[in-house]
Amino acid sequence: MKVPVKTFRGESIPCLGLGTFELTGPAGEAAIREAIELGYRQIDTAIRYGNEAEVGRAIRASGVARQDIFVTTKIWFDALDPESVRQRVGESLERLELEQVDLLLVHWPTRDVPLGETLAAFAQERSRGRTRLIGVSNFTVALLDEALDVHGADLFCNQVEYHPFLSQEKLLDRMRRADMLLNAYQPIARGKVFGSDELAALGRKHGKTAGQVTLRWLVQQDGVGAIPRSSNPGNMRANLEIFDFELSDEDMAAIHRLARGERYSRFDWQPEWDD
Ligand SMILES: NC(=O)c1ccc[n+]([C@@H]2O[C@H](COP(=O)([O-])OP(=O)(O)OC[C@H]3O[C@@H](n4cnc5c(N)ncnc54)[C@H](OP(=O)(O)O)[C@@H]3O)[C@@H](O)[C@H]2O)c1
Repeated sequence: MKVPVKTFRGESIPCLGLGTFELTGPAGEAAIREAIELGYRQIDTAIRYGNEAEVGRAIRASGVARQDIFVTTKIWFDALDPESVRQRVGESLERLELEQVDLLLVHWPTRDVPLGETLAAFAQERSRGRTRLIGVSNFTVALLDEALDVHGADLFCNQVEYHPFLSQEKLLDRMRRADMLLNAYQPIARGKVFGSDELAALGRKHGKTAGQVTLRWLVQQDGVGAIPRSSNPGNMRANLEIFDFELSDEDMAAIHRLARGERYSRFDWQPEWDD
């Protein structure tokens, strides 16, 4: 199964990738390798997930050429000063055993370090060739305005929580104007979409599951990608089987109407969300 790419700011990314939170140790590594063998070509990791070594080994074991896999990692919010960024990127590349990642993200914003300093440090890592692209995660419209308008940052992506129970309309509007990818994390709401009667009914109409309809709804939107996580090869395969059907405008609108401000990522350091 070949995943279609989407292009932002002149750079392409497979619009569906594998989330790897909690895919650790030998079982995690085997799952990531399985995903690559099934056709996943975008792998989302983070220093915080403690599995960069597993991701690197899985890529090498898969036999797929390095340049054919889009690898993202993220720096946690306690290490966003320039010196820490430099150190953390070096350590990540050592664990991954890669010379370069494709995308380096600010995992969460912080008030402890001026945003301009972090973005300049990220841009320097790109200049040094240690990442091809830079971006952010968990950024609001106000934070993006600051990054783009005040600091002139060239950001490829903002990775945020997005699923049928949470609208990201305001953020998407801002990001489309900036030609940025909104990569949806927790895209199947940690499995909660399987409890929705509406999504199950739409699935029946298309011969698909609630999860497949949800992932299709995400990637069918302009500017949106998704990184569902699975440790189960059957589920991984099902999550890829979303490119052989299309949702109508009415179907898309019906899923948008399920939004009810439900957020699964809730932390005391989170910014003031837009929804
Ligand atoms: N930037 C951030 O702050 C941030 C925050 C959270 C997550 N993320 C990223 O986004 C990724 C996805 O988020 P997530 O892992 O929290 O949630 P998710 O992808 O919405 O849901 C994962 C859960 O759904 C199950 N699942 C997956 N496919 C399924 C299917 N076809 N049928 C039934 N169950 C299925 C998985 O179980 P099985 O393993 O049994 O399939 C797992 O329990 C993460 O892994 C991580 O890479 C980023």
